Amino acid sequence: MPLPQLRQISSRRRLLQFLVAGTLCTQHGVPALAQNAAPPRLPDPMSWAPRDLNNLISDPKEALDVFDFEPVAKKNLSPAHFGYMATGIDDEVTLRANREGFLKFQLRPRRLVDVATIDMTTELLGTRFDSPIVIAPTGSNRAFHSDGEVAVANAARTGNHLQILSSGATTSIEEVIAARGAPVWFQLYPRKWEVTEALLKRAERAGSSVAVVTVDGGAFTNWETLARLRRNDTRQCDGCHGSSIRDYVARRPNFDGIDVSDPASMNIANQTWDSIKRLRDSTKMKIVLKGILTHEDAALATDSGIDAIIVSNHGGRVVDSGRATIEILPEIIEAVGGRIPVLVDSGFRRGTDIIKALAMGAQAVCIGRPYLWGLGAFGQPGVERVLEILRNEARAVMQQVGARSIKHLTPRMVQRA
Ligand code: FNR
Repeated sequence: MPLPQLRQISSRRRLLQFLVAGTLCTQHGVPALAQNAAPPRLPDPMSWAPRDLNNLISDPKEALDVFDFEPVAKKNLSPAHFGYMATGIDDEVTLRANREGFLKFQLRPRRLVDVATIDMTTELLGTRFDSPIVIAPTGSNRAFHSDGEVAVANAARTGNHLQILSSGATTSIEEVIAARGAPVWFQLYPRKWEVTEALLKRAERAGSSVAVVTVDGGAFTNWETLARLRRNDTRQCDGCHGSSIRDYVARRPNFDGIDVSDPASMNIANQTWDSIKRLRDSTKMKIVLKGILTHEDAALATDSGIDAIIVSNHGGRVVDSGRATIEILPEIIEAVGGRIPVLVDSGFRRGTDIIKALAMGAQAVCIGRPYLWGLGAFGQPGVERVLEILRNEARAVMQQVGARSIKHLTPRMVQRA
């Protein structure tokens, strides 16, 4: 064989050997090796204790963080109910962005500050709570545990947390306030005026003085995780859920006695800033708008006499915009300029997440899925432990950054990466 041809074959062979070596190595999770490259290494840092899904916690006390509860809730719940809790919208870009957003902000700890005693008390619209950690409104809590919203209210009482009750709760506001032993804030979607007014009046009669008006509803929500998990659910759910809006309302005690015979009365897509102003002018309750995501709307809300806003993308469930609420927070804080309190939610899972938002200027942080994981896993003790873990983590981070009370948290303690 002529020399050039031989050379070609031998270099092709070397190339093949190189590719095979690379394939074998990458199959074992080690980067492909070139002949003179460094010897193979373990991932650095090595993850020596990855979460073991075959060895779940069996008692809330065993939980090291809030994530320990989610797989237990998944094991306990039917696929459809777990899917309702877990789902984001479309490709779940926003759901992931909410978590990834926290990595873009880093803490700047200050040293040699006396942090032997930490005070996390927080005043929200005139009421004092033991911490700035708030229970976000979530519907249908009995889908996760038979004690539903009452278990959540009992846990909120134990830790003296503000609870926001969803109008779509499976327990009435009167029962929840009795269990909480204090007023809760009442969440509702603005609908046909007669429905909105009846809900407000009921909440006010029950003792609630703050209405949280969620303004991110109205569009079709493509909850694919729910749809896919529901396919694996062999149970017949029509008896407990129904399929029409009338069936839904019939199973939501806060709507008792409210006429929704005309499905259009439940429409929320046709609401405007005028609807909000009408609402504002028709009740003595304070009004909080939930679902604000731009500085333009934050400014409109502030100028409309709204009492507070919640920066929220509904936990990645309503629009797959991909903007994390922690990234949105600075533009909102700037637009509001301290005139009204700003609360925030979506993706908060760690004390560091909470303290970053508070240092940036948020007054409080609402938590959604983590307390539902606790509820689905262990009922009231699970919710209590989730809240305790978040309080403990937040307290530790306050010590780490050198802030002995919430007012000592300042924007200089956070920097954007
Ligand atoms: C919600 N959320 C919600 N919001 C609201 O205004 N009214 C509601 O009835 C509900 N229902 C609801 C059900 C479930 C199962 C979830 C997970 C969420 C949104 C909630 O208030 C909050 O904005 C998010 O849950 C916050 O995000 P994380 O903490 O779940 O990531």
